[in-house]
Amino acid sequence: MSDALDRLRGGVAVITGAGSGIGEGLARYAAELGMKVVLADIAADRITKVASEIEASGGIALPVPTDVSDPAAVDALAERTYAEFGETTLLVNNAGIETLGFAWEIPAATWEKTLAININGAIHGVRAFAPRMIVSGKPAYIANTSSIGGFGIMPVQTSYIVSKHALLAFSECLQLEMQVKKLPIKVSVILPGPVATRIFADSKGADDPVSTYHRKLMADMLEADGISGLEAGRRIIPQIAAGEFWVSTHPEITREFARNRASHLAELTPPTLPAEVLATLGATE
Ligand SMILES: NC(=O)c1ccc[n+]([C@@H]2O[C@H](COP(=O)([O-])OP(=O)(O)OC[C@H]3O[C@@H](n4cnc5c(N)ncnc54)[C@H](O)[C@@H]3O)[C@@H](O)[C@H]2O)c1
Repeated sequence: MSDALDRLRGGVAVITGAGSGIGEGLARYAAELGMKVVLADIAADRITKVASEIEASGGIALPVPTDVSDPAAVDALAERTYAEFGETTLLVNNAGIETLGFAWEIPAATWEKTLAININGAIHGVRAFAPRMIVSGKPAYIANTSSIGGFGIMPVQTSYIVSKHALLAFSECLQLEMQVKKLPIKVSVILPGPVATRIFADSKGADDPVSTYHRKLMADMLEADGISGLEAGRRIIPQIAAGEFWVSTHPEITREFARNRASHLAELTPPTLPAEVLATLGATE
């Protein structure tokens, strides 16, 4: 096991969205490393089950039902974590939802929910945990789960893409703030590629033909090509422990998305979809 992982061993990990998919994989792998794991998720039944499985295999886990879009709930998560397990070594603001639909057709409440979970969830996590990490003065890690979509643009995933771009800016500025204050807190942004999870199957939003087609296409693609949540956890956590800022599950795809985005901005090319992508959306020119 690498030296970097030794920095986490015996510490405390708090993972949001730990009831499924990537968050579940991160929690299981953190427990394998010997971390005490706090599992936070709005789905209480799922984290109770994952926590009891971790404990059954010799780990230490605490399920704390939490809605990350609720600032008071995230404050309560931090209070409970410090009361039961002590100082937090690793916080992963991972909970997120997918929402599909044309921007003008997604109801206001759905827009607000998407942004409140995907963006504000990470902000509340930092607000609740960073001050406690700072008081402890010990090295700690904060990672926010964005997506390769944080470098992408995609119609009918507009609200999701907006939220994932925002998490890049949030994480980058947060890293600079740690530098300004000379704090021993490393910030990472996680850019998962395809991971086989329920995220598209559970997605909400519109059910117009383009969104319905895209939802099924993406759900099928994740199921066919995605790595498991546990494999994602195994790829992600060592990079965080090593102090990497950009954390990938699929480095080549990440680089391709980053290069495309950079060249699009450098050349100031207007957004447009090639015919073959239009076809995958069930639309034709
Ligand atoms: N699966 C992929 O291919 C992929 C790719 C890129 C990025 N991501 C990102 O990874 C993260 C995890 O996604 P996943 O694919 O594992 O999805 P998932 O749906 O399997 O898991 C997400 C978990 O978040 C929980 N959650 C939803 N709303 C919540 C709330 N308000 N408060 C607390 N928990 C809440 C859900 O109950 C669920 O257990 C998300 O941020 C997602 O955007 C996933």
